[in-house]
Amino acid sequence: MCYKDNMGKTFNIAKYKRQALQAALQQGLLQENSPLLVLVNQQGIVDTANSLQQAFPDGTRHCFAVKANPYLEILKLMRNAGLGAEVASAPELELALQAGFSPKQIVFDAPVKTQAEIERALRLGIAFNIDNFQELVRVAQFMSQYSSTSSIGFRINPQIGAGAVASTSTATLTSKFGIGLNDEDNRQKIINACKQYPWINTIHVHVGSVACPVSLMTQGIRAAFDLAEEINQTLDHPQIKHLDIGGGLPVDFEQDGDNPSFKDYVNALKQQIPALFDASHTFTYQITTEFGRAIIAKNAMTIGRIEYTKQMGGRQIALSHIGVQTLTRTVIEPEYWKRRISAFTSQGQLKTEHIVAQDIAGPACFAGDLIARNREMPRLEAGDYILVHDTGSYHFSNHYQYNALPHLPVYGFTISKNGVTFKRISKGQSLDDVISDYS
Ligand SMILES: Cc1ncc(COP(=O)(O)O)c(C=O)c1O
Repeated sequence: MCYKDNMGKTFNIAKYKRQALQAALQQGLLQENSPLLVLVNQQGIVDTANSLQQAFPDGTRHCFAVKANPYLEILKLMRNAGLGAEVASAPELELALQAGFSPKQIVFDAPVKTQAEIERALRLGIAFNIDNFQELVRVAQFMSQYSSTSSIGFRINPQIGAGAVASTSTATLTSKFGIGLNDEDNRQKIINACKQYPWINTIHVHVGSVACPVSLMTQGIRAAFDLAEEINQTLDHPQIKHLDIGGGLPVDFEQDGDNPSFKDYVNALKQQIPALFDASHTFTYQITTEFGRAIIAKNAMTIGRIEYTKQMGGRQIALSHIGVQTLTRTVIEPEYWKRRISAFTSQGQLKTEHIVAQDIAGPACFAGDLIARNREMPRLEAGDYILVHDTGSYHFSNHYQYNALPHLPVYGFTISKNGVTFKRISKGQSLDDVISDYS
């Protein structure tokens, strides 16, 4: 018998979530032939962006990590809220440009950049983080022939260890990201490169995502800060002007609210690295952040119908339309990516009674497609809806197209005294779209 979890007993659900679900039913967004969708809280995004901006000192540049949620409408919301964009691939770069970000609002961090991608970013003047010494050679070759207004830096790996999730921890001894600061003579090689190339002016670090404690994040940023100080002292002038401290603030998926908050994070940074935000310090740095999950995770929810229920070997099983295609990590690594799920009737009433342990299975044709296992929650019936909380980040960008299951439709919503208004963010994929993907 596997352990029972109770993340299905989410009964004190925020009123706005219920309102949005009920309006989606009333306005026909959820119906017989459209049994699942994603709802994005547009005002929530603006509020979260504001709390980020207020937590950090004025002048900090905040770039939304596009990988967390790359829809153009979402990117436009981020831009209108005053954020920039961090992009980690050539297509993400083009999406950011299409969303209207100016080159100076974009940071390019792709781990594997072709020569053409390097040149495009540098010609546009986009901030650029070099991943390794071979990439440095290519950048230097370009810079010897052309000029660029890009801020250019090194991504370092401070090699300080992992958080709770190995696959999203990027500062381990052997991580694939950046330049290992403690390996061989890398530190000296970085300092020498800065001496040789006066256009290197940034140190970048991103310790990891999801489950890296704030103490680990600040330790990584301390390493980047110390390196910047050493470079500037050695060169005897403030060549390193920018510190890009990455993203990675963890999100509490077990309850509503921001824990830790951006403010908590800034307080920890001030405590651990007092000179980081000190305008009277000998060298001062413009800070860039690259948060994804902490900005968008809590501002979306995925809703889907239960199509059937059954009993198997004494286990209650609900067959839903939400599965591995959209809760990919939840299905594949359930121990790390568990999500709260609330149950609703077909009429949109929250269910709170008849608690039983049950599995919620998705539509994909493999036995492991379970978004909840042995979960104690109100007994689900055919025709009910489930609401999966906090699905704004890394769900639509991690879509898994097994069984040719299509991308979900996504709607933004706003609530006013006149009710709930929806705006289409993505129509999802039609049958024709899926067929054209495989044609
Ligand atoms: C370089 C870089 N910056 C920012 C992020 C965003 O991290 P998060 O969404 O956890 O804030 C990532 C995530 O992989 C990353 O690799």
